[in-house]
Amino acid sequence: VSSIEVDVSAVQPGMSLTVKWRGKPVFIRNRTPKEIEDAKNVQLSQLKDPVARNANLPSDAQATDTDRAAAKDKENWLVMIGVCTHLGCIPLGQQGEFGGWFCPCHGSVYDTAGRIRSGPAPENLPIPPLTFTSDTVIKIG
Ligand code: FES
Repeated sequence: VSSIEVDVSAVQPGMSLTVKWRGKPVFIRNRTPKEIEDAKNVQLSQLKDPVARNANLPSDAQATDTDRAAAKDKENWLVMIGVCTHLGCIPLGQQGEFGGWFCPCHGSVYDTAGRIRSGPAPENLPIPPLTFTSDTVIKIG
């Protein structure tokens, strides 16, 4: 299956859902206002990987929180391929120094926008092609 549709209506702020797309886990998180604020307070100069890695944007888009979020008018939603950009382990959610994701394999730490902040991983967690087909349904792929 090349694309999937996910109903996220039951995913409240502070909750996440993991689905499978093309054999890989995809993390769908309904971020809390604090998580969004924390991500917005980070300067691009603080980022190890300043590129958005968002398949829905030009390849040189910057890793601002706005350009990491699933949609400009739905910045609470963060959708990412849940595969560590170091050697492919699956990071654990809401763990680690930045309150985002922590990879138990070699200690990479991602923030609440899924951007790599410390550890050996070179890139932000990638954002797959996606669209909202309704307010609460996300099509991935
Ligand atoms: Fe995640 Fe190595 S695979 S830190």
